[in-house]
Amino acid sequence: MKPQDIPTPFYIVYEDKLRENLELISRVKSEAGVKIIMAFKANALWKTFPIIREYVADSTASSLNEMYLGNEMLGGEVHSYCPAYTPETINEFIAGSSHLTFNSISQWKRFREYVDKWNSDCGNHHVSPGLRVNPQCSVIETDIYNPALPGSRFGVTADMIGDSLPEGIEGLHFHSLCESDSHALAKVLEAFEQQFGKYLNRVKWVNMGGGHLMTRKDYDVNHLITLLKEFKSRHPHLEVIMEPGSAFTWQTGDLITSVVDVVENQGVKTAIIDASFACHMPDCLEMPYQPAIAESCEQGDDTIAYRLGGNSCLSGDYVGDWYFKKPLVTGDRLTLKDMNHYTTVKTTMFNGIQHPAIVLCNHNGRCSYLRRFDYNDYKTRMS
Ligand SMILES: Cc1ncc(COP(=O)(O)O)c(C=O)c1O
Repeated sequence: MKPQDIPTPFYIVYEDKLRENLELISRVKSEAGVKIIMAFKANALWKTFPIIREYVADSTASSLNEMYLGNEMLGGEVHSYCPAYTPETINEFIAGSSHLTFNSISQWKRFREYVDKWNSDCGNHHVSPGLRVNPQCSVIETDIYNPALPGSRFGVTADMIGDSLPEGIEGLHFHSLCESDSHALAKVLEAFEQQFGKYLNRVKWVNMGGGHLMTRKDYDVNHLITLLKEFKSRHPHLEVIMEPGSAFTWQTGDLITSVVDVVENQGVKTAIIDASFACHMPDCLEMPYQPAIAESCEQGDDTIAYRLGGNSCLSGDYVGDWYFKKPLVTGDRLTLKDMNHYTTVKTTMFNGIQHPAIVLCNHNGRCSYLRRFDYNDYKTRMS
């Protein structure tokens, strides 16, 4: 099956692009001597995991479901971090995780005895407890993705810890980046070492969180490797862990849609597509950002401007404008670029509109369905 033979709408994941990202991540891992694990929050298309597992089998989970998926479908270590564990979830987290990061000192005090009990009873499956710290170094412009905003609920500050780390803590975790470059990491690392350096000789590992967009074309990978090596030479006893999500599936897939009508109101032309920004590309409204469309062009003297509107009843379910050389007509296919990381995991079935299928395009350009959705999928999410 070729992409052009597949009815729209569908997400398409390109195996060769995924492998390119995985190869770069593997290079950083081996040259810098760090552990890089995959964050499920950005990608949970588990039928692609046999490809991912060839390079990386360890993952980070932010919920029990992600943890189960890591154990079942990737099979490596699962490092869990969840803002708050509960008496109902803690034992499951302990049994399924290699590392368990606590978001607050009160969480650690509440659940330490569960971890200690497991570690004394359970032979060779040691769970390594860590504490999330907040270096309060703000390098992200979009507030919704910024864990360093004043009043953030994520992680403890050095003044909350005081002179020494709570007993039993084996690692420190910080997450302060989002689609960031290595220079932003350098700033955060400086703040981290200034504020938390005094605790580092007490711990075995440091997890530098996610947001390292090392697979973006303009990312200075060599600078990242140097930065990590320098950090490691200052703290040779530490295992360094990074848990990017987006970097794994950055620019590895698109959403292919068709125009189903073109309407015009007060001079604004809207092409309605057989997909929805609200349901199938939520970050376009949340971030917000305008995705690239393969068939569009730069604005010029003879180009025509269109909004694209989702096929839902939400008034704000549109993004604009793009420019085209020819008028759009019903049946035209449009390729919304880079719709894999965070997109496929965040979709909803709002309005019950047709959910895009998920397709894998292998290195020969041959496609196969990973999943198709029908009325039953919509119905079984409700009761
Ligand atoms: C704790 C934590 N780790 C890792 C990630 C993955 O970040 P990214 O996908 O930006 O690399 C996130 C994203 O929100 C996160 O909150």
